[in-house]
Amino acid sequence: MRYQDLDWNDMWRVARASKSWQKKKSSDWDRRAASFAERNLDSPFVDLFLAHLRTEPEWSVLDVGCGPGTLALPIARRLRAVTAVDYSAAMLAELDKRAQAEGLTNIRTIQASWSDDWQKLGIGRHDIAIASRSLAVEDLAGALAKLDSWATKAVYIADRVGAGPFDPELFQAIGRDFSPGPDYIFTVNILYSLGILAHVDFIALDPARTYASREEALQAHRWMVDDLSAEEEGRLAAYVDSRLERLDAKAWRFTRRTAPQWALIWWQKG
Ligand SMILES: C[S@@+](CC[C@H](N)C(=O)[O-])C[C@H]1O[C@@H](n2cnc3c(N)ncnc32)[C@H](O)[C@@H]1O
Repeated sequence: MRYQDLDWNDMWRVARASKSWQKKKSSDWDRRAASFAERNLDSPFVDLFLAHLRTEPEWSVLDVGCGPGTLALPIARRLRAVTAVDYSAAMLAELDKRAQAEGLTNIRTIQASWSDDWQKLGIGRHDIAIASRSLAVEDLAGALAKLDSWATKAVYIADRVGAGPFDPELFQAIGRDFSPGPDYIFTVNILYSLGILAHVDFIALDPARTYASREEALQAHRWMVDDLSAEEEGRLAAYVDSRLERLDAKAWRFTRRTAPQWALIWWQKG
């Protein structure tokens, strides 16, 4: 078989169909918006991502699949203008609430999906386009080409490496099969087939994270598993306890065996 005979976009579609975590509708994300915001807005991921971003204060940024503003909020503190797009109204409400509390007036939120007509919605071209952990699409090649054409200076994508934020040992402990689905290597290959030679950096989070309580540590793991049964909940708690260390009255440290890892894929235009 020759490399050029491989259809990475089709292989992506097939691989996506077998993944364990199937989130398809905006309502699935609506339900998770508040807890996602809680877990992610102060995650070390944010500073590690932003450390790679090359920007000027007067530039504009388009953040597609922005969630509760994980990146849109800190970027708006530094740059002239941010357009934050997401198909989940609850995610955008989380973002708006925080922007308002901080007095940030330079974020425009737009409820839209990858497949909507961005032209009609008035989403103009921006200096930078970002898609962080949000390329949950059937047609990855189409989404990448679209993101590329909406940026004038550079594009930044954060994509899963292997299991990404999921802890494979947790699934083993509760007795569920786990298949993370296709990861960043599909994105890099599809970009190559589109004629885009992207840089790839890696963001590895610390395998240890500190929580204010045991309950907070449990909560930080429940999201990984859909429809936990009572029996599975018991096994999940036992697994978390087995890796949890009490540091003092207000600090509990959970250490995973595998560190969560992300690929930061980026390219400049022109
Ligand atoms: C894992 S969250 C990432 C949020 C944020 N970018 C971050 O890195 O923390 C994925 C986000 O993508 C959004 N999303 C998923 N599929 C989408 C689609 N087809 N169109 C628009 N947004 C989508 C979800 O609503 C969710 O807010």
